[in-house]
Amino acid sequence: MTVKYAIIGSGMMGQEHIRNLNLVEGAQITAIAEPDAAMRAAAASLVPNEVALFGDFRELLRHSDADAFLVASPNHTHAIILDALIEQKRPILIEKPVVKDWEEARRIAEKAARFQTPIWVAMEYRYMPGVTRLLEDLEAGRAGKLAMVSITERRFPFLQKVGNWNRFNISSGGTLVEKCCHFFDLMRLMIKSEPVRIHAIGGQAINHLDEAYDGRVPDILDHSFTTIEFANGVSAMLELCMFAEGSHFQERVSAIGSTALLEARVPGPGRFEPDGQVKHAEYVVADRAARKEQIEVMKVDPKILAQGDHHGSTYFQHLGFNRLVREGGAPEVSLEDGLKAVAMGLAAQQSIAEKRPVELGCGNWLG
Ligand SMILES: NC(=O)c1ccc[n+]([C@@H]2O[C@H](COP(=O)([O-])OP(=O)(O)OC[C@H]3O[C@@H](n4cnc5c(N)ncnc54)[C@H](O)[C@@H]3O)[C@@H](O)[C@H]2O)c1
Repeated sequence: MTVKYAIIGSGMMGQEHIRNLNLVEGAQITAIAEPDAAMRAAAASLVPNEVALFGDFRELLRHSDADAFLVASPNHTHAIILDALIEQKRPILIEKPVVKDWEEARRIAEKAARFQTPIWVAMEYRYMPGVTRLLEDLEAGRAGKLAMVSITERRFPFLQKVGNWNRFNISSGGTLVEKCCHFFDLMRLMIKSEPVRIHAIGGQAINHLDEAYDGRVPDILDHSFTTIEFANGVSAMLELCMFAEGSHFQERVSAIGSTALLEARVPGPGRFEPDGQVKHAEYVVADRAARKEQIEVMKVDPKILAQGDHHGSTYFQHLGFNRLVREGGAPEVSLEDGLKAVAMGLAAQQSIAEKRPVELGCGNWLG
């Protein structure tokens, strides 16, 4: 069965999605809505068949018979676009962060509940090679009783984007929403519980301070430490540093339990390496009884690896979304998951701004 996709927003990430969809059997991109002429042309050149091009997503909605929508526009456009797409009742894959603030979160949650449209929030980190193994092993009880989750990201500064939307909290939602919603999502998935209290410190120490856009200097965080208490007693921590591209691994995702430490180690994109080559990811099991690390190198098919910056995870996620469009069922990453990851990011930023812990409680913190 052919699944027809309409793409809304085809900059860096939209084009990564297009290259990956080209590898998914039966996937066909039939329409693209992209206001920037250069990005529109670049995206169209990646599609092997004829594709309808639009400058505005509303035009696309009037003309497209696509089976599914993929949204990869800037964060501040997500709620406006979702608002219209939800009424179409066709499956949506939308890039994280699904929204950028509390008001949008409440509005979209209410509308989605009314229309019951399948919404899958793109959380590529769930599908990274070592991370998938860690999640499986955790489920199988390989760490014993889980007590701590620690995630470290040490990476390059934010890249330049179309219209510089990622330079300001008002359009991106802020660094801990824009970037770290991935990690907050992983924490909820690993810990299988809800956060009750978040305490963060951080700031903008090094990056973008010498830049100005229409006279405004970027106001986004470039480093932070966030600690999170979960309702089931598990403690979690996130370290973020965005001026550390010399680090061998970009992310370390660790789960520490009564019997073992499990860790996924993921390097950054190959295109930023001095030799242009992507390094291998690793998956590590450190059993307390054995007292040593068992390190497994995670290999990904080079053809899949070459389609983007995310170690093949965009492709693996698309296989799942494609199945959902063909067969129905529930999205693996639900709107609720996406909204809760945003809410955690917003709470962490509030904690930094107000220099105090922020309570989320166990109840309905989106309501
Ligand atoms: N999951 C990940 O790992 C990951 C990685 C990178 C980006 N992202 C997310 O993907 C989204 C896009 O990021 P990007 O890096 O591709 O940014 P980008 O600036 O490269 O691309 C965004 C594109 O959307 C277009 N656009 C702007 N307004 C639009 C509208 N109203 N309708 C349709 N298109 C519109 C812009 O012209 C631009 O071409 C963001 O939400 C970002 O957070 C996710």
